[in-house]
Amino acid sequence: MTNRPRLLAISGSIRQDSGNTAILRSLGDALSERADFELFPLNDIPPYDQDADTDAPPAIVQALRDAIGQADGVIIASPEYNHGMSGVLKNALDWASRPYARSTLIDKPVLTITSSPAFTGGVRAQQQLNETLHAITARVVLRPQTVVGAVHEKVTGGRLTDAPTLEFLVQAADHLLRDIGTCETVKAAA
Ligand code: FNR
Repeated sequence: MTNRPRLLAISGSIRQDSGNTAILRSLGDALSERADFELFPLNDIPPYDQDADTDAPPAIVQALRDAIGQADGVIIASPEYNHGMSGVLKNALDWASRPYARSTLIDKPVLTITSSPAFTGGVRAQQQLNETLHAITARVVLRPQTVVGAVHEKVTGGRLTDAPTLEFLVQAADHLLRDIGTCETVKAAA
């Protein structure tokens, strides 16, 4: 890896005006001088079907697995639906977790973020998301949970417009970059 890591961003929401996708876009902008950033939309990932999980899986699933494999680190932002991560995201992670013991997520540094209009910011979904990533043996970035509450007040025009929140998220991304090996210092929490 060069000093310019490749980050893959995955939003657990596929709706057009998603706050989680807006967060990822803005984080990509904020990190643009330090990392390559690609957003992988989950819109076309089919429902997980073990019968289709063969040596020749659906092309979009292979593309997701390859994109994860080529990335130095992954950033996932999910909404909270009924106290869990979105079904869209869990479904994608089930595909990405295979082939068993050969998943491209194994040992991959992953930063998890949740956001929600509630003050809790999807913290329960993040707990569940981290648990799933632990099961896959991804390397979930070790830090206090990165949650964004009242996200509807912080996003405008598909971008995160709340400067302190963006700073908080860049600090979280610094932890990911530290784990990848391209950031030596992480600012102390404000
Ligand atoms: C929600 N929402 C929600 N919010 C929350 O904080 N805790 C929850 O348990 C739930 N549950 C829930 C279930 C369902 C089916 C929906 C549609 C919504 C609200 C949710 O966080 C909100 O719609 C977010 O804005 C969705 O994220 P995006 O699409 O903006 O990224």
